[in-house]
Amino acid sequence: MNRNWLVSIVATVALTAGGSVFAASILNSEHDLSGNNANDNGQICVYCHTPHSANQALAPLWNRNQTTSTFIMYNSPTMDMVQAAQPAGVSLACLGCHDGTIALDQIINTPNASWTSNGAVMTPGAHLLGTDLSNDHPISLTYDNAQDTEFNSASSVVAGGLGLFTSSNGANQVECGSCHDVHDPAIVPFLRKSNANSALCLTCHIK
Ligand code: HEC
Ligand code: HEC
Ligand code: HEC
Ligand code: HEC
Repeated sequence: MNRNWLVSIVATVALTAGGSVFAASILNSEHDLSGNNANDNGQICVYCHTPHSANQALAPLWNRNQTTSTFIMYNSPTMDMVQAAQPAGVSLACLGCHDGTIALDQIINTPNASWTSNGAVMTPGAHLLGTDLSNDHPISLTYDNAQDTEFNSASSVVAGGLGLFTSSNGANQVECGSCHDVHDPAIVPFLRKSNANSALCLTCHIK
């Protein structure tokens, strides 16, 4: 039997079985921005990562500058945990495209001398969060269920398949990447786990 054929059948079965065994690829997903710049030679990772001269402040080998926007954060009298005054870490990496202020192909380390940014920012629509985050789920807060007992422990959040990040604000940060996996389109829209029966929400919240 043709070995490649067998491998591809096995991969297909694993993916259709729910996508939890193997991650799906960023290839052809909404985060495959190849073609956005005429000189990208089909590259995908380059819009976010570079092997050299990276900006390590926001995400691993990050190929983008930090947005200089001032954001309006989520605010509510019933919040108990400590939220940063401005987005941090991985959330800032996401907002560097999703706030609509930096061109998608504006990168730090271009793969060739022909690459010049075409200036096109994210187009308006549901994907564009902008700079007013007051109507979005809170981010850049320190997950601590001692502050609010209606939450599961940080370790069970991670065991449940979600992410807690370390940033300049410390460990156990809730960021965009807590709920989203930027590389994996298997559970739309790039969710770390299915929210059927509110399973994603209930990984953190006890409600
Ligand atoms: C749209 C932006 C974007 C693109 C495109 C992208 N990444 Fe990432 N990547 C991120 C962000 C943000 C993080 C940090 C957050 C996280 O780990 O969830 C990250 C983290 C990583 C990490 C370290 C953490 C981990 O998940 O293992 C690796 C390795 C990585 N990316 C590889 C790649 C490769 C290889 C490609 C191209 C095939 C790629 N990325 C394309 C945004 C992107
Ligand atoms: C390099 C720019 C860039 C970065 C960085 C980036 N995105 Fe995106 N993202 C996009 C674009 C472009 C789209 C598609 C928008 C459209 O079609 O109008 C998108 C779409 C999405 C979608 C919707 C997917 C769907 O299936 O509808 C989600 C969710 C998302 N991004 C989350 C994130 C998160 C979370 C991060 C950070 C961890 C991030 N993005 C970082 C450019 C980016
Ligand atoms: C607490 C979990 C959580 C956090 C944190 C979070 N998201 Fe989402 N996001 C979701 C869920 C769940 C959906 C799907 C909502 C739906 O389909 O109605 C979603 C949808 C989206 C979409 C698709 C468009 C839309 O509005 O439905 C984009 C883009 C997006 N998120 C980007 C981000 C970015 C950027 C951040 C950080 C600033 C972020 N998300 C933080 C859970 C989260
Ligand atoms: C990664 C963990 C996590 C996930 C997943 C998550 N949340 Fe949250 N959520 C939090 C934290 C932490 C707070 C801040 C709680 C506080 O400070 O008391 C919060 C705050 C909220 C608030 C505001 C509470 C207030 O007092 O104003 C609402 C409403 C909420 N989340 C709903 C949801 C929904 C709906 C989902 C699923 C789509 C969800 N959350 C997923 C961690 C999470």
